[in-house]
Amino acid sequence: MHSTSTSVTIDPARCAGCGACIRVCPTEIISLENSIAKAAPDTNIARCLQCGHCMAACPENAIAIPALDLDLHHFSTFAVDTAWQAPGSSLPTRDLARLMLSRRSCRHYRQSPVEKEKIADLIKLAVFAPSGTNSQAWTFTCLATRAEVLALGQSIKAFFERLNKKAENVLLRKFLALVGAKTLDHYYTNYYASVKTAMDQMETENRDRLFHEVPAVILIGSSPGATCPKEDALLAAGNILLAAHTMGLGTCLIGFAVAAMESDRSIQKELGIPESETIHAAVALGYPDEIFQRITGRKKPKIRFPGK
Ligand SMILES: Cc1cc2nc3c(=O)[nH]c(=O)nc-3n(C[C@H](O)[C@H](O)[C@H](O)COP(=O)(O)O)c2cc1C
Repeated sequence: MHSTSTSVTIDPARCAGCGACIRVCPTEIISLENSIAKAAPDTNIARCLQCGHCMAACPENAIAIPALDLDLHHFSTFAVDTAWQAPGSSLPTRDLARLMLSRRSCRHYRQSPVEKEKIADLIKLAVFAPSGTNSQAWTFTCLATRAEVLALGQSIKAFFERLNKKAENVLLRKFLALVGAKTLDHYYTNYYASVKTAMDQMETENRDRLFHEVPAVILIGSSPGATCPKEDALLAAGNILLAAHTMGLGTCLIGFAVAAMESDRSIQKELGIPESETIHAAVALGYPDEIFQRITGRKKPKIRFPGK
């Protein structure tokens, strides 16, 4: 009979008692009983992260975690070899490095729509990112038509129009700064002018300075209960940015959209996103209409090794 718990199932008939699962379990909920691995009784099971380490490490394939959706590594737009890749093997670093160096934020897009299958595959790749305590509390709201992106853009533009009007009020800015709320003053100094220019261009030139005319956007949010919601969302976004490049897609993170949605929750409501969720990343996505000739550099990073 299986040794079961709500989160981990260990088949004693298959278990060879090697202890590989015990060694990799981050919360130490597995132990050997009569040379067979056993998950902690139900009272302790809340500690299980359902991270799948034990399942991944078992040479006998004796462990199952019912909550894990194994379909997530079946993709519809490409085939993948799902054999585990050991560190240092198979994928040449130079290939990954070239991808990382070549990805650019794209700000010119063709109007051809992004296939929903590609979006679905990108999200499958996104959720293989790490998440704090394996919460995986991320949510993905996909706007797959230009009309939807435009509608969101209008709501965000309206938000910034209100914000700019507030920021133009010198007395209000100074008063808020005096009582310690310096955000409006900071916004005025750093963003007001460029946001105003962008909004004027949106009006007079009919240019989408916010989403760069993109035909699709993925909003990455979090449900309540995540330990590190913003970090999780941005790591998931990182997977999407790199994978999208390999699929021929361009991407750009749109921080201005996130700032607006964080401050004005009515914007997410218009998209049917529950109030309990928070949006942390907006990924603009589409077929690029720009070509780069070369890989460039970065500012020199500050690096230190405090040890001798
Ligand atoms: C959190 C975050 C927010 C960003 N927000 C915007 C944005 O609102 N609009 C935009 O055009 N680019 C945005 N970017 C893209 C950056 O400007 C871009 O990553 C940076 O200039 C480096 O260029 P690269 O991505 O091509 O390497 C954002 C990037 C990050 C990481």
